[in-house]
Amino acid sequence: MQLIFASANEHKITEIRQLLPAGYELLSLADIGFHDEIPETAETIEGNARLKAQFLADKQISACFADDTGLVTSGLNGEPGVYSARYAGEAKNADANMDLILSKLEGNSDRSAYFITVIALWIGGEMHVFRGRVDGTILTEKRGTQGFGYDPIFQPIGYSKTFAEMTSEEKNALSHRGRALQQMMAFLERR
Ligand code: IMP
Repeated sequence: MQLIFASANEHKITEIRQLLPAGYELLSLADIGFHDEIPETAETIEGNARLKAQFLADKQISACFADDTGLVTSGLNGEPGVYSARYAGEAKNADANMDLILSKLEGNSDRSAYFITVIALWIGGEMHVFRGRVDGTILTEKRGTQGFGYDPIFQPIGYSKTFAEMTSEEKNALSHRGRALQQMMAFLERR
């Protein structure tokens, strides 16, 4: 079965392909020749996931899903949250985003944070929503070169490595997106 993923992020596409059970084929927007930007104008993470999946559903795509992720830090009253991608500006630069968090958290002893992913799956004419969360700590400096986004400053609880120091298999097994995807896969298998 073909599932269209509403993303052009190659890191995510690789991560998700590793998780898909046999019988499913993941196609990216590029694979179907779609190169426009999908709007992400909702005020919540769930709202953005729904918006992106609905955007493709409205284009007569019968099975598709979209994800939206936010990093929520307790010491910064939930920032960057729904603004995680463009926290330090429209350039969506991962290093600048991490630097901004590190400088805002300087001297702050509350470094707890979590990643949350919401997936909206459009299939059979209905929208289904899945969530995954992983709790952790924001370190005081970047560590590791794997992964993407905020991975070098996020260390999940119970681990001594950041996400950027883990292999993609290690990260997928416990990550926010991995957990949300596992729920989506379980749902698809039950259908
Ligand atoms: P998006 O909603 O997946 O586009 O993600 C929003 C922001 O969170 C972007 O800045 C991403 O780089 C970041 N992000 C998403 N997933 C991850 C992850 O697995 N690790 C680190 N950062 C992530």
